[in-house]
Amino acid sequence: MATNDFESREIDPRVPSAARLYHYYLTGEPVFDADKLFAERVFARFSHLDTWAHHNREFLGRAARFMVEQDIRQFLDIGSGLPTGGNTHDIVREFAPGAHVVYVDNDLEAVNRAHDLLLHQHALETTAIVEADLRHPDLILDHTDTRRLIDFDQPVGLLIVSVWPFVPESERPLALMARLRDRLPSGSYAAMTHVSLEDAGTEVQRQIAAAAELYDETSDPVTLRSRAQFSALFDGFELVDPGIVYAPDWRPDLAVDIDHPARPCNFAAVGYTP
Ligand SMILES: C[S@@+](CC[C@H](N)C(=O)[O-])C[C@H]1O[C@@H](n2cnc3c(N)ncnc32)[C@H](O)[C@@H]1O
Repeated sequence: MATNDFESREIDPRVPSAARLYHYYLTGEPVFDADKLFAERVFARFSHLDTWAHHNREFLGRAARFMVEQDIRQFLDIGSGLPTGGNTHDIVREFAPGAHVVYVDNDLEAVNRAHDLLLHQHALETTAIVEADLRHPDLILDHTDTRRLIDFDQPVGLLIVSVWPFVPESERPLALMARLRDRLPSGSYAAMTHVSLEDAGTEVQRQIAAAAELYDETSDPVTLRSRAQFSALFDGFELVDPGIVYAPDWRPDLAVDIDHPARPCNFAAVGYTP
C-alpha cells in the first residue's frame, strides 16, 4: 500500500464520495450516515440509479472475463471502488488462478477495504491495491506494486469502468488516456464505461442531469459526456464487437430489458491495441 508520492485524500465521513455512494447503490449498505442521506436525495431525482450501477458492475465482470478468454493474465483496474461482489481478481482468477491484478483508487476507504480483503485472502503476492489518481498516470504505471505485478512487455487488461465521469475536461482526459495507451503493448485491451444522457428520453435526461448536479456536493463532481467524447477515449484502439453500446448490451449473458430507463444512460466498450 505504498503511496509513491501520491497525496492522500483524507476520509471525511461528512462528505460523500463517489466510491462510497456507488457501493451503497450496489449493496444498500452505507459506509457513513451521510452517504445514505445523500444517496436518498440522488434516488429522489433518478430512482433507477441502483439498476444503472448493477448494469455497470456486470459489464465490468463480462469485460474482465472476455479479456481472460483472450489470454490476458495481468490486469490494471483503475478506479476499482470498494470491494464487493464481482471483484476483478475474483472473476479472472476463477479462469486463470495465477493472474495478476493491480487495483488503483484515489478513495482511501476503497483502498483500505481492498487492502484488508486482499490481506485476508492471502492474495497480496499476485494482487495489490495502489492509492493513486487517474489524473497522474505515470505515478500509477511506475508505482512499485504496478512494476512488481505487471510486465509491460506482455499484454495488459486495462479497466477504467465508470471513472472518467470524475475527471473533468480541465484535466485533459484524452491526454491522460493517451499516456496510458502508449504504455500498453500490442495485444492489450481496455474496457471503459461512461454515464451519458445523450440517448435517454427527455424525462430521464432531466432526472440524470439533476442527479449528476447533486454530486457537486461530494468529493467527486460528475462530468457527463457524449458518445463522441466517450469514443475519443478509445483513440488508438480497435473496438471489439459490438463496439460502443449501452452497458447491459455489451455481450450480455442474460436477456436485456430494452425498455429499462437506465439502459441507455451508460456507454460501454472494449478496445484492443493492434
Ligand atoms: C462509480 S465507481 C466504479 C467502481 C468500479 N470501477 C466499477 O465499475 O464497479 C468510481 C470509482 O472511481 C474512483 N475514482 C474517481 N476518480 C478517480 C481518480 N481520479 N483516480 C482514481 N480513482 C478515481 C472512485 O473513488 C470510485 O471508487
